[in-house]
Amino acid sequence: MSKENGKGGQDISRRRFLKGAGLTALSISNMAEGKAAPIKSAVGPGPTALSLSVNGVQHKLQVEPCETLAETLRWKLGLTGTKVSCDRGTCSACTVWLDRKPFCACMTLTIDVGKRPVTTIEGLAENDTLHPIQQAFIDKDATMCGFCTPGMIMSCAALLARNSSPTLDDVRHAVSGNFCRCGTYPKVFEATLAAAGVEGVANEKFGGSSQ
Ligand code: FES
Ligand code: FES
Repeated sequence: MSKENGKGGQDISRRRFLKGAGLTALSISNMAEGKAAPIKSAVGPGPTALSLSVNGVQHKLQVEPCETLAETLRWKLGLTGTKVSCDRGTCSACTVWLDRKPFCACMTLTIDVGKRPVTTIEGLAENDTLHPIQQAFIDKDATMCGFCTPGMIMSCAALLARNSSPTLDDVRHAVSGNFCRCGTYPKVFEATLAAAGVEGVANEKFGGSSQ
């Protein structure tokens, strides 16, 4: 997965991440004992009111400063398609889009989302029509237990949004941060290439059938 998206932080524990975020806010106020520049947007320690755009709908919420986007989506908005597995930035099961770029929702504080629109797996289809990559995952049987599937699909859909003719290596790179315990990778590659219209390449590489 592209590391611009914050999904390359496999060695960053969630505790360090949250601690670091808190310290950043604190250090601004205490910088140089001398009371550096005042904080313009200090939040906490209690809940903070904010507005969050998710799948095209604006939500007014109260969130804790330490609350992750995954927690907000799942527990406050009921969008449980975003899965939480490791909860520390190593598996990408929680992948969502921020401004159409993939991010790990378990490593993103909701208060840091700002005005960036959030897209979850629930927002990928257009009414009753599945996104091509969702349909391809079904057609190519690219899922087993399904726990990694929403995150995997969000990563693959982001790839197709920025590159309509990906190579096999492009697909491999796009899901390099998405961990699938069931080992569905060949089917995921095949489905993504099929959704991009380069099915012949997928079949040639993996011996898949043309369906
Ligand atoms: S990376 Fe977020 S749950 Fe694993
Ligand atoms: S399908 Fe089971 S973890 Fe990927």
